[in-house]
Amino acid sequence: MAADIDTEKRRAAERGLEYVEDGMVLGLGTGSTAAHVVRLLGERVGAGLKVRGVPTSRSTHALAEACGVPLATLDEVTRIDLTIDGADEVDPELRVIKGGGGALLREKIVASISEKLVIVVDSSKLVERLGAFDLPVEVTPYARKVACIALEATGCSARLRLGGDGVPFVTDEGNSLVDCAYGAIDHPRALANRLNAIVGVVEHGLFLDMADIVVVGRAGGAEVIERATHPHGT
Ligand code: 5RP
Repeated sequence: MAADIDTEKRRAAERGLEYVEDGMVLGLGTGSTAAHVVRLLGERVGAGLKVRGVPTSRSTHALAEACGVPLATLDEVTRIDLTIDGADEVDPELRVIKGGGGALLREKIVASISEKLVIVVDSSKLVERLGAFDLPVEVTPYARKVACIALEATGCSARLRLGGDGVPFVTDEGNSLVDCAYGAIDHPRALANRLNAIVGVVEHGLFLDMADIVVVGRAGGAEVIERATHPHGT
């Protein structure tokens, strides 16, 4: 990863952490930007901050544990004060594509029960229109071939994600991932509805009306973009 991009990710993580308050239950995202968040959070916990984190992946769980962040499961907490997570694309309406790191299902579950969702990104993630990044879709393995056919009927080229060993990638929830190349997504809400209607699709990486704040890391600081109105319940 280019050093300047990693600096932007760290700047975004630092600024995102300013939303953390003592006593909070935190959703801990997945990916390289979220990893900066977890490491910095570990430093603050070491300095006396009292929080509990709900990790969105096994990798984040392992990192948070190594950094000394106290953890909780969704059997122990059912409501999260604040989630800080990364993203693959963010459009001007703060609609987001996630799942490049393979954790979209747990990430969306955690985001859906979060009072506030702060997305932390480097500047390369800002786009005018979603869809240049292939949209990840989590499917049940039994249905992966027929799901690919149904996904292609929505206007994309669908590719089953493979792991480094050339066999289908398996998510932390035991599912397969299909990366869907749309090129451009003109109507994200309509597409989300179509994807939700495909039997065998477990969840997709369109996070619409979920992000409250997007923090964009820059070389010398961070830009904060807030939604005009609070989306939850509207
Ligand atoms: C994982 C994700 C990540 O947040 C997304 O891929 C961004 O990752 P990074 O911060 O490494 O650029 O959605 O499922």
